[in-house]
Amino acid sequence: MLAKYNAKIAGTGMYVPDKILNNFDLEKIVETSDEWIRTRTGMIERRVASTEQASSDLAYEASLNALKSAHLRAKDIDLIIVGTISPDHPFPSTACVLQHKLGVKHIPAFDVSAGCPGWIFASSIAKQFIENGTYNNILVVGVEILTKITNYSDRNTCVLFGDGSGAAVFSRTESTDIALIIDSEIAADGSYGDILIQKAGGSRNPATEETVRENLHTVYMEGNKIFKLAVRSMYHACDIVLKRNHLDVKSIDWLITHQANMRIIEALGRKMKIDKKKVIVNIEKYGNTSSATIPMALDESIKSGKIRSGDIVLMASFGAGLTSGSLLVRI
Ligand code: UT7
Repeated sequence: MLAKYNAKIAGTGMYVPDKILNNFDLEKIVETSDEWIRTRTGMIERRVASTEQASSDLAYEASLNALKSAHLRAKDIDLIIVGTISPDHPFPSTACVLQHKLGVKHIPAFDVSAGCPGWIFASSIAKQFIENGTYNNILVVGVEILTKITNYSDRNTCVLFGDGSGAAVFSRTESTDIALIIDSEIAADGSYGDILIQKAGGSRNPATEETVRENLHTVYMEGNKIFKLAVRSMYHACDIVLKRNHLDVKSIDWLITHQANMRIIEALGRKMKIDKKKVIVNIEKYGNTSSATIPMALDESIKSGKIRSGDIVLMASFGAGLTSGSLLVRI
């Protein structure tokens, strides 16, 4: 598609709950160890939402921060897209709840269910809407409260997940502006749907006493099957956008991948032959926050001054679906 306009990231924000769950806390809950978690995943601690907090509450705080950094008010936003697999409710969408919290009406708002790449998928949609001239400013949020759908008797999964939200404002920009959304790529392979799944609560297995008793409302994951697919699919998503834009890895200033496992991040880095210093990692602080990992890492890195104006950032994610995607931007 020939773009009529350019899009850029005008501002970013994040929010995490105060409560910290560290590896030593997990040692008291399941048969695990700080040593196993650190060496097998790179995680040290993660954040946990309070019983009162729902995903829209985290999304609201991250959105306010993103709006502030974009020097915009909620009324300037034309569309809200939320990537999440842990919405406030199956319906209405968390984006509609967020729209109401932000005090704006008469703008569209919807969720994207694309697993961990939810924010990348949402960004790809936002990019199109700006490039074709439909909207000027779009709020794109990734948010999860995975700890409320985690089985804390399953050590294979419960040590991995945390809660948080990251947001970005995508805006129409002048062709002279250095900041630009360069490209994005999204993909899915539903044949792997059963290796990362919330088995009950939908129309296949509606909630019953039995589904609750059998923990079917929590995350089911066959971790080591996903591991290899994760590296392969993120590599592919990165390779496509680099080739399409006649760039090589050396042209990339920063790589931000989904923060699911330090060993996956390192394996991808090796496969891409990218300088380790260019790979942004915050998995030790937040664990796997699914669709929030990338916008959170992006915001932290911009706010800390690591990522600067003009830097080229390549982002890549993969997750339930199985889905994968990449986003290439100049900040
Ligand atoms: O974001 C969505 C996408 N998800 C992912 O990207 C997850 C990808 N997968 C992974 O990150 C890794 O596969 C895990 C971290 C989930 C697991 O690491 P692994 O190196 O693949 O371990 P494994 O599943 O092959 O298990 C190895 C051993 C097993 O023991 P045995 O059978 O060898 O005696 C597990 O029971 O490690 C054991 N184990 C644990 N031990 C201590 C599994 N979880 C734990 C634990 N603490 N928490």
